[in-house]
Amino acid sequence: MKKLAIVTAVVASVLSLIGCGGAHGDNPGQAYMPDMYYSRAYEAYGYNNVAGEYDSLRSRNILYNGMPVIGTVARGESFTFPIPEGDSGYARAASYPSPLAGMNITPAQMKEGERIYLINCAICHGSALDGNGPLWKGGEGPFTSAPRNLKDDYTKALSDGQMYHAITYGKGQMGSYGSQVKPEQRWWIINYIRSKQGGTGADTTAAAAGAAGGAASGTDTTKASN
Ligand code: HEC
Repeated sequence: MKKLAIVTAVVASVLSLIGCGGAHGDNPGQAYMPDMYYSRAYEAYGYNNVAGEYDSLRSRNILYNGMPVIGTVARGESFTFPIPEGDSGYARAASYPSPLAGMNITPAQMKEGERIYLINCAICHGSALDGNGPLWKGGEGPFTSAPRNLKDDYTKALSDGQMYHAITYGKGQMGSYGSQVKPEQRWWIINYIRSKQGGTGADTTAAAAGAAGGAASGTDTTKASN
């Protein structure tokens, strides 16, 4: 009986040492079922890095890729843009009006448009919007494709919707800025660009009338909204 008591005491003390991780209070000790300790957390609409997950869904005809449906408006966002990527989307964007058309953009929003332009776009398009930012430098910079002069006739003739499409999905050698610049901010930037196209830039006058492509699609109705 006495022996049993001693064995019990020894086992109990050993268990208590293992169980509580000894003197280190923060140590959780042994994990018997690590799957339950470290569960796989699935975030709705989040990126899911479980290997082959989307392929496995697709093989079962479940067309889910973790991305929000086109046209989804994020919480806190005010604008949607129901036009998809690609050439046909770009063509449709020609007649898509700016949601800011006819509204007075506040000086604070205009300033913010300028600030965000300088952060994201000026590296290529230049702080003077002349298409000659530090990445291009008249062809001496590292970027291999000439950024558009945003004050030339071609860009003046683009509709706000086309510019929005280009910023959102990219255009030619220009990548998408959809993840860097929020929808509302994209329209502010466009307004900022418009405000600079109003003939103040001496460098725009060189562009020949009817420059290539300029005659194209949407005649912009909102150009005067600066
Ligand atoms: C890495 C360089 C680079 C950056 C940064 C960049 N662009 Fe561009 N952008 C280009 C190039 C190159 C083109 C010409 C694309 C073409 O037509 O092939 C272009 C074209 C454009 C056009 C004309 C699109 C059209 O419909 O023809 C607009 C408008 C424009 N950019 C706006 C912006 C704005 C606004 C930003 C910032 C949010 C920006 N760009 C950032 C390189 C850049």
